[in-house]
Amino acid sequence: MSRYNEIKKQLTETPKTWLVTGVAGFIGSNLLETLLLLNQQVVGLDNFATGHQHNLDEVQGLVSNEQWQNFTFIEGDIRDYKSCEQAINAKGKAVDYILHQAALGSVPRSIADPILTNSANITGFLNMLTAAKEAKVKSFTYAASSSTYGDHPALPKVEENIGNPLSPYAVTKYVNELYASVFAKTYNFKAIGLRYFNVFGKRQDPNGAYAAVIPKWTSTMIKNEELFINGDGETSRDFCFIENTVQMNILAATAPDEAKDQVYNVAVGDRTTLNDLFSAIKNALIANGVDVKTEAIYRDFRAGDVRHSQADISKAKNALGYKPEFVIAQGIDKAMPWYVKFLS
Ligand SMILES: NC(=O)c1ccc[n+]([C@@H]2O[C@H](COP(=O)([O-])OP(=O)(O)OC[C@H]3O[C@@H](n4cnc5c(N)ncnc54)[C@H](O)[C@@H]3O)[C@@H](O)[C@H]2O)c1
Repeated sequence: MSRYNEIKKQLTETPKTWLVTGVAGFIGSNLLETLLLLNQQVVGLDNFATGHQHNLDEVQGLVSNEQWQNFTFIEGDIRDYKSCEQAINAKGKAVDYILHQAALGSVPRSIADPILTNSANITGFLNMLTAAKEAKVKSFTYAASSSTYGDHPALPKVEENIGNPLSPYAVTKYVNELYASVFAKTYNFKAIGLRYFNVFGKRQDPNGAYAAVIPKWTSTMIKNEELFINGDGETSRDFCFIENTVQMNILAATAPDEAKDQVYNVAVGDRTTLNDLFSAIKNALIANGVDVKTEAIYRDFRAGDVRHSQADISKAKNALGYKPEFVIAQGIDKAMPWYVKFLS
């Protein structure tokens, strides 16, 4: 049995208490769904900066009434230390595990407003990490980012070799890693950082100026709007389906002590160009009955973007028993029906 299946079995037999920050967002709401389906007790914290009540409502509809009763939602801001403490202790005693997802994503948003991104991603992170350390939770797993590889040219990306950050967002995510490492040295509080590589799947927001490429293009094609590719389309990414990311969070939270105080790539180990991504989404939508007429319009490269990204995932495989269950094509097939329903 895979380590993931083993852990899920153990968790179902002996339920634990979890705090998911950013629970109304894309990744947070998918974590919530999986944890509730495993009969876990979950506290969620979110200020709805980019998350939505409709994500929580959708999860409610996907779990039983009994499972939904295991969820406690706190509307609050991680930039406020008291809200972090309150969330950790919302079930009367400190939660067992924290999955810290709350942050302001998007490279362009951070270029437009670095102070705002800094406050959520660094001050908010430090608040949550400190409150977790004070409460002596069993584990603290946080969303790091592949943007930390910055201008390092090597492919595939190996955790130990990073370059200089290319955006304010990348700085914030790297600072998270630095704080986590310093907390391990100075307080013996050992966190795990998950360097996500372009996660995608249901409930990733297709709206707004800072939408990620897959939901943005999907929405653009469904609505028959103009679709732009930044650069020549040969920019590539290691797109990672949400279920793989959920798996990594659960494996990391329950990891043995020797696997902590580390960062891990969360990806598939593949590389897909934007041109190939365009065709894959278009074909999947056509297969779902959408009459897609969109052709790509090429324009300049975007500031702060990394040219190529592909992860080496052997560290996560070896230390945590990670086995990605979905490659990009399978993920797109699973995600498209959700977008077709959500956007029509
Ligand atoms: N999606 C990706 O491809 C990707 C890649 C690398 C890293 N990440 C990281 O993963 C995490 C989750 O990202 P996502 O894609 O689900 O984004 P998202 O925007 O859907 O979710 C983030 C959630 O955090 C909440 N939030 C933001 N600021 C907050 C604050 N001050 N207090 C409380 N809640 C706050 C938002 O309201 C939202 O619900 C983030 O830390 C992001 O930086 C995501």
